[in-house]
Amino acid sequence: MKPIKLDFNARALRGNLSMPGDKSISHRAIILGSIANGTTTVKNFLPAKDCLRTLEVFRCLGVQIVQDNYTVTIDGKGIAGLVEPDKPLYFGNSGTTARLMLGLLSGLPFFTTVYGDQSLSQRPMDRVIKPLKMMGASIFGRDSHTRLPLAINGQPLSSITYEMEIESAQVKSAILLAGLYAEGETTVIERIPTRNHTELMLKHFGGSLKTRNNQISIQGKQQLKATQINVPGDFSSAAFFIAGALILQNSQLVIKNIGLNPTRTGMLDVLWQMGAHIQVSDIKETNGERVGNLTIETSNLCGITIDGKLIPRLIDELPIISLIATQAEGQTVIKNAEELRVKETDRIKAVVDVLTTLGASIKETADGMIINGKTTLIGGSVSAYGDHRMAMMIIIASLITKEPIYIDDLSCMNISYPRFIHDLKQIVI
Ligand code: S3P
Repeated sequence: MKPIKLDFNARALRGNLSMPGDKSISHRAIILGSIANGTTTVKNFLPAKDCLRTLEVFRCLGVQIVQDNYTVTIDGKGIAGLVEPDKPLYFGNSGTTARLMLGLLSGLPFFTTVYGDQSLSQRPMDRVIKPLKMMGASIFGRDSHTRLPLAINGQPLSSITYEMEIESAQVKSAILLAGLYAEGETTVIERIPTRNHTELMLKHFGGSLKTRNNQISIQGKQQLKATQINVPGDFSSAAFFIAGALILQNSQLVIKNIGLNPTRTGMLDVLWQMGAHIQVSDIKETNGERVGNLTIETSNLCGITIDGKLIPRLIDELPIISLIATQAEGQTVIKNAEELRVKETDRIKAVVDVLTTLGASIKETADGMIINGKTTLIGGSVSAYGDHRMAMMIIIASLITKEPIYIDDLSCMNISYPRFIHDLKQIVI
């Protein structure tokens, strides 16, 4: 592929932006809308590749879904209304589709085969398969039944109490979805809280779910009622513009209608600790999710340590936080983030490779990175590793490099944010 020159000629980022719908919430709206009784309408749906995979999967399972850009209407089939697909289900690059669907399909009374793209086929599925098998699921596949392609022979499931071994909302959600089909009450115990969109949305669909301390329990065999979902803007997408405004001189940016669910906004806590000027305003609640506006100004930042309970609250933001850290005075240490190694690519290796090429002082560790700032970034030829969040981080880096950056591919941004460059151009001055 011919390298693409990134040349935005930006002096500052200024203006107002609204974010496309949240990816995690868009997936869950399609899933729960499809198994609820009645017609669900989803507004500000994210029409990006990953969420469209989930939508297509439910069409293959017999659900009528009409998508008109950002609005989706789902003719819910009820908890027992999905039908056996007549072809393998394709999950593309989407880890969320894969993990959540394994949970759902395990309890349905039919046979399914599922597969994904090259990246998804490398990613671990045993983290969901293990608890699902404890519930009685019958799942077979490659690499001792741990990786896609997989075959699921739907079974009656029994409820379990499961203590999470890794911090993963995808695993938690897969168990809760399987729990909907199981006899009795299924409980998930989390050591560290992860994003809770599944729990909030189940309640919004009228589901009976108990959350106390770090335990979430769901009653099996219950019906869900169709509803309307307004998907908040995606905080993980906003993160790239927040970073750009912080590190590019003379910037001031307002980002409207962003999801501010506390299980997702660890990056804000980190940035405030680093000295960032970011104000939150107009907080409200839509379908159980906190939403608000952010105003961001260029800031002098200092390095910090990011670890422990913070990690699940900012896991997808770590590539862009690493870029910010190159522009902060002193050392930033990222620890306990070994999960980054099993994302769309090994994001520890990818971030260290890209930022080193650009001239940063950054070192890879087993479970994170150590970054020494502040460094001038030069430019050069880099790879996005086929990873949407790497590509967007590299574009933001190109706003501050002395020389141009050449990147191998930008099409991967279609996974979560097809309009990223269009939106960036709105605020570049
Ligand atoms: C997601 C959970 C996180 C996150 C991913 C989306 C979700 O993954 O990284 O982008 O929608 O549940 P893990 O559950 O693997 O941590």
